[in-house]
Amino acid sequence: MPVTDEITLPFIDPTIKGQLLDKGIISFSFAPQIVFGYGCLNRVGFLSLFLKTKNAFIVTDSEIEKLGFVNKVQKYLELSGIKSNVFNEIEPNPQEETVIKGAKEFKSTNSDTVIAIGGGSVLDSAKIIRLLVKQGGKPSDYNCKTSTIMAVHEMLPLQISIPTTSGTGSEVSIVAMVTSGHEKVTILGYPLISTIALVDPKLTMSCPPNLTAMCGMDALTHAIEAFISLRINPVADMFSLQAITLIYQNLKKAYLNGQDVIARINMSLAATVAGMAFNQKSVGLVHACSHQLSGQCNLPHGLANAIILPHVLRVNKKVSMSQYVTLATALGLDLTKLSDDEASERFILEIEKLNKEIGIPEKLAECGVKESDIAAMIPNATSDISAITNPLQPVTKEMVESVYRAAL
Ligand SMILES: [Fe+2]
Repeated sequence: MPVTDEITLPFIDPTIKGQLLDKGIISFSFAPQIVFGYGCLNRVGFLSLFLKTKNAFIVTDSEIEKLGFVNKVQKYLELSGIKSNVFNEIEPNPQEETVIKGAKEFKSTNSDTVIAIGGGSVLDSAKIIRLLVKQGGKPSDYNCKTSTIMAVHEMLPLQISIPTTSGTGSEVSIVAMVTSGHEKVTILGYPLISTIALVDPKLTMSCPPNLTAMCGMDALTHAIEAFISLRINPVADMFSLQAITLIYQNLKKAYLNGQDVIARINMSLAATVAGMAFNQKSVGLVHACSHQLSGQCNLPHGLANAIILPHVLRVNKKVSMSQYVTLATALGLDLTKLSDDEASERFILEIEKLNKEIGIPEKLAECGVKESDIAAMIPNATSDISAITNPLQPVTKEMVESVYRAAL
């Protein structure tokens, strides 16, 4: 422990692999500038001028390009006298080869700033492209399981992140994920944070109902897992509570009517705010299990979270009951005459009800996951970095297996 003049401080040991716990020190970080508002995409040229961008590298996927958003970004950049190149090859659950290719193109086009427009896969890939441009190597070299948070240490090219879904929170976080073979690689590093998060709810209006549902449940999982995480951060908890309430009140509305502007605005806000919460407190066993379902069975991240969430909430109930009661109260559930145990169950049932109302399948088997898939996922889920902050410890193989089996 380092000793200062007056107090002895616990500290993050950057030499320990996967170290996340800060033993009492509270820090707070997210994208240094967040621009939020319906229609604010038209600020992208103006904001790029602030970053002294001359040649932007737009990272996206072909679906987003078809929606015309990339053309709009290029038009706004042009109006500000800024050139741009488009890399549209990011796929769902992107492979590391794609990201390596993106880094090569960034260099070969002499780009200076990344502008990422898309869902979580796009935003995460863009962050990793900047890392490879500056520090070289391949994404798995920076896997937080085998490396340390200090591996990402250089000042990276600047990035404007523009989410087109309400879910990931990647626009404000230090986390980026990519797939290597069947394994999800998590990279952590403060330099990965976007320079500017440009959050325009208008871009989510065309998001189809099933994607709206999955992404919304990802955001809800971020907010809940951050709230019950082992880490202590009362500021982040305020963000979690706000996000959970907004999602509870608006996700079903946005799912049923994608043109509900108010519901879309609230969901965009909730997703970003939930990102600001989990960026401080991390997530837990839901994400530890869902990462493997995406890596091995190619399940969309939000869908895997949504199905796993109630089962993990039940596993964690014995240590998180008081937080569940706080959350149930925030949702305005009628808890009259209920014990804490009953109120907690009421909260979990409400999550299950929401899942049902927005068309989330109840079981993993309905999404093609087989019993024979479980064994291979258990070790990776148990050692997943998200498991470190799960409130119930230690996270054992038996615990993980019980979650997968209950959700199957
Ligand atoms: Fe997530």
